[in-house]
Amino acid sequence: MSASPRHVAIIMDGNGRWAKKRFLPRMAGHKKGVETAKQVAYAALDLGVEVLTLYAFSTENWARPDEEVSGLMGLLKIFIQRDVRELSERGVRLKVIGNWRALAPDLVVLIEDALTQTAGNTASTLVIALNYGSQAEITASVRRLAEQVKAGALEPDAITADHIAQGLETADLPPLDLLIRTSGEVRLSNFLLWQAAYAEMLFVETLWPDFGKAELAAALDGFGERERRYGGL
Ligand code: FPP
Repeated sequence: MSASPRHVAIIMDGNGRWAKKRFLPRMAGHKKGVETAKQVAYAALDLGVEVLTLYAFSTENWARPDEEVSGLMGLLKIFIQRDVRELSERGVRLKVIGNWRALAPDLVVLIEDALTQTAGNTASTLVIALNYGSQAEITASVRRLAEQVKAGALEPDAITADHIAQGLETADLPPLDLLIRTSGEVRLSNFLLWQAAYAEMLFVETLWPDFGKAELAAALDGFGERERRYGGL
């Protein structure tokens, strides 16, 4: 039997190009992108993926025009209020990583409510990376270790990779097995850099709004066929 990935992460790229091809405003692409996120979350659940992590907003995305940033924040609110509630009925637990507490207070309250309401769900976990940056996440983990060293509670020589991993926001999740990026770009864009150390990577040409269950299923099948050696033979 082939292995199936427990934890899949996706860099959802290509909303803008999807809209451009149709002579639509960029927001139309993001709107369709949110619909796709919901469909893919259901598909992941149906296909037995335990954890699906989606990169919804990076710390670098603030550099986009104000209008696009506020549009994305509006869509996030809708996603958290409407789609997460629906997903919760199927037993999906929400987890949010990144500096989401620095977002607008009304969005923070919505996220807190959704986290509380879904905390007891056990069918699967949907992780939304929001105002997330991997280097900042690793830096925070290392800083906490430095504080322990300063306090005399930890010897520098005793620090292992596991100490750093335990300080990441993903410490409670299964290891990342498969990382997918849509739209043909081949880079990680500051997403799960540490966690991707042994992950399989899949870069597909499909623009995010066109991604769906069939492509997720194909990605999972492909994963089962690859042999992961973790540096061994
Ligand atoms: C990439 O498209 C996507 C983003 C910047 C993130 C926004 C993602 C969504 C709105 C979909 C899912 C949302 C939620 C709430 C789970 P792009 O604008 O970079 O596309 P382009 O490279 O073609 O311009």
